[in-house]
Amino acid sequence: MTAMFEPYEFAHLRLRNRIVRSATHDYVEDADGGVSKAQLQIYSTLAKNKVGLIFTGQMYVHLSGQAGSPQNSICDPALLPRLQELTRIVHENGSCIAAQLSHAGAKASSPDRKAPSTITLIEGKPAREMTFEEIAETREQFVKAAVLAQKAGFDGVQVHAAHHYLLSQFMTPSMNLRTDRYGGSGENRFRLCAEIIRGIKERCGEDFPVFIKLNSNIPVGDGNYEEELLADLTLCRELGVEAAELSGYDFMSRRNERTYYLERVARLRKESGLPVILVGGIRSTLDLERVEKAGIDLAAMARPLICEPNLAARMEEGPVTSRCLSCNQCFTLPTREGIRCILHHKTQEE
Ligand SMILES: Cc1cc2nc3c(=O)[nH]c(=O)nc-3n(C[C@H](O)[C@H](O)[C@H](O)COP(=O)(O)O)c2cc1C
Repeated sequence: MTAMFEPYEFAHLRLRNRIVRSATHDYVEDADGGVSKAQLQIYSTLAKNKVGLIFTGQMYVHLSGQAGSPQNSICDPALLPRLQELTRIVHENGSCIAAQLSHAGAKASSPDRKAPSTITLIEGKPAREMTFEEIAETREQFVKAAVLAQKAGFDGVQVHAAHHYLLSQFMTPSMNLRTDRYGGSGENRFRLCAEIIRGIKERCGEDFPVFIKLNSNIPVGDGNYEEELLADLTLCRELGVEAAELSGYDFMSRRNERTYYLERVARLRKESGLPVILVGGIRSTLDLERVEKAGIDLAAMARPLICEPNLAARMEEGPVTSRCLSCNQCFTLPTREGIRCILHHKTQEE
């Protein structure tokens, strides 16, 4: 049996195993940004079914960075009791939970969209370039959100810097055309992420776990990007980040492939020395073995756990392949009556 089901220790956090629920926007959040009853059900089911670490869906650190409604907020202290209820329910069932902190930037629903540069990521809805002052405000919003998450009892936070949301826009050369200290070199494009991590460590304490989610690839100039990423991961290690979760910009189009980012992520792990979490196309116990053999620390899944919330528990028992087809319907179905997967047409399955 794979060692993925044995306990795992980060510098400041101990997990019951190395299986992670990757951040998943549930689309059944309450309208005010609070944690809904349906979400409590989703999270307690995952915890009861042996997921080691759960990343929440992306939570907006400020209303201007909301990706769409419904979505959880992590900037309103009035919502604290419901966040506390969420962390309590997960802990009672043996899992750890970290809040994913996000700002959508050019993909925000706000009419005043801000991004590193003037870019358009939503058709017909351009975003304008952020001022230095706005960059500083955004950094502060991420730090304040982490403080709120700590108060709510989360085991840590994950800074969302993947999938072309604001921080990923800063890191992606084609979306960041700045010529000041936040643009140009890889170091400059990662500067805001580094400032946020430092700010969180200062305000929440060195031992409060901070994770980061990053794209392992970009469409153009990818060779340079891998080198830059290595420098970013090395810096993350120095800043005391527990682990980086590595995804990619193109996971939705790689329907018939498995563990497509594995090779690059294994290389980055080896060279940076930072623990990594692989996500994208992990669908079976065989895939878990492949992840482990590659020297990757943890394995994360999103779509398979929407399809089969009890998958981790079943994987622990013996060889299993998920029924998930990576059809991506889970991005659109929940807008209709909370249905989350075409294969079972129910919000919840034990
Ligand atoms: C419905 C849905 C919602 C998602 N929401 C988020 C999110 O809020 N934050 C995030 O970083 N990734 C999000 N993702 C991406 C997943 O975390 C993951 O990186 C991606 O689905 C690849 O993993 P998989 O092949 O196991 O699904 C979402 C994916 C799905 C299918």
